[in-house]
Amino acid sequence: MMNLVPLTKEFVKQQLQNAESGHDWFHIERVWKLSKTIAESYDCNRQVVELGALLHDIADAKFHNGDETLGPKIAEDFLTENHADPQIISRVLDIMVNISFKNRNEVKGEKSIELQIVQDADRLDAIGAIGIARTFNFGGFKNNPIYIPEIKPNIHQSKEEYKKNKGTTINHFYEKLLLLKDLMNTEKGKSMAEERHRFMETFLERFFSEWEGER
Ligand code: ADP
Ligand code: NI
Repeated sequence: MMNLVPLTKEFVKQQLQNAESGHDWFHIERVWKLSKTIAESYDCNRQVVELGALLHDIADAKFHNGDETLGPKIAEDFLTENHADPQIISRVLDIMVNISFKNRNEVKGEKSIELQIVQDADRLDAIGAIGIARTFNFGGFKNNPIYIPEIKPNIHQSKEEYKKNKGTTINHFYEKLLLLKDLMNTEKGKSMAEERHRFMETFLERFFSEWEGER
């Protein structure tokens, strides 16, 4: 069997041509690189990690009317057509189905090490400087306000509430981004998350003091 990774890379690039900039090919490329970095510290199947990272947002449900089955379907068809081993296919699909933040309370049983790695990589790309940029881009894409002091963050939301939330982009930091550091699966991911987390705290501190005209 031909090495599937370069083939998958070209397929994903093609599929994501018109994606929102926070979920485009460059997001995938960053998550792919981060996954490889984290994977170096663990005994895991590299092919599953790389394919999972490359395919994880191939058809993100939030851009497809909430349809969570489309991405795994596209990936399964692609991998089958390219003669991937059925065992590899099922491990990659497991990553795709279980990676999402909004489904975090629904994952049953133990997470595979490959899922843990790709999920950490995806979460690292959601925080730090890149995370801030992606979040404001997505907020603008949704036409959400940057910040409204009267609207308070809603932290313990059900999946349904989280999805239909029409909050402010600043609240998204409290509803998701600042929670990610403590949700990291791997020790390596945890340590990589720290500096990114501190950078967001510094950003928010400055945001509020500039908002008040204090500096
Ligand atoms: P997942 O795809 O892991 O379920 P999300 O759908 O929550 O995660 O979001 C992925 C990224 O999209 C976030 O890290 C953030 O940058 C952006 N995003 C999602 N929802 C919002 C929102 N309400 N406001 C601003 N950015 C958002
Ligand atoms: Ni992603």
